[in-house]
Amino acid sequence: MPPPDLRTEPLAAHHDRALFTCGVESLDNYLRMHAGQDVRWMANSVFVLVDSREPARILGYYTLCATSISQGAVPPAARKYVPRYPLVSAMLLGRLAVAVGHQGRGFGKLLVVDAMRRAYASARAVGSSMLVVDAINEQAVAFYQANGFVRLAASLRLALPIVTIGKLA
Ligand SMILES: CC(C)(COP(=O)(O)OP(=O)(O)OC[C@H]1O[C@@H](n2cnc3c(N)ncnc32)[C@H](O)[C@@H]1OP(=O)(O)O)[C@@H](O)C(=O)NCCC(=O)NCCS
Repeated sequence: MPPPDLRTEPLAAHHDRALFTCGVESLDNYLRMHAGQDVRWMANSVFVLVDSREPARILGYYTLCATSISQGAVPPAARKYVPRYPLVSAMLLGRLAVAVGHQGRGFGKLLVVDAMRRAYASARAVGSSMLVVDAINEQAVAFYQANGFVRLAASLRLALPIVTIGKLA
């Protein structure tokens, strides 16, 4: 079988949301029932991973929206990259999931890197100091830590200064 020809693109009407399952019901339900409305209302951007040979089939997805975090929540390791305002501008990678049957193939990492790239580009247009993620459980925390994020104290939230993404590029 030839290697997949992967791309990420904004969620659109031709993507088959009903077929997607990642093993976490809330993440499947979000895609089926709420993602379309979020996109229409511009509450979240939703990007999906597809193989161009099967462009309707969603292999993974993630969401991005604007948020802010309090100065006190900024992880110590990130403080030197963040201004000392009481509220720090940030972008939220709120949800991320890979379809069952495709997990463990590097697709999750691909989606995280894609989200980092889009967050960085977006922050150049509308400033944003941090990329924040909300992990769904401890396993997801470990996944994000393996991908460079630092955990905020006593929470399932992790963060990465946007400028450090620029240094990775
Ligand atoms: C968590 C999830 C997104 C990971 O995606 P994936 O495609 O299976 O992960 P990848 O194959 O891209 O792994 C990327 C890296 O993270 C590591 N990793 C993956 N899952 C991990 C875990 N649970 N704990 C620690 N590290 C993990 C991999 O070892 C890999 O590291 P490497 O680059 O050094 O080899 C996916 O399993 C999933 O969708 N799970 C259900 C939904 C979920 O939990 N989402 C979490 C976000 S809210």
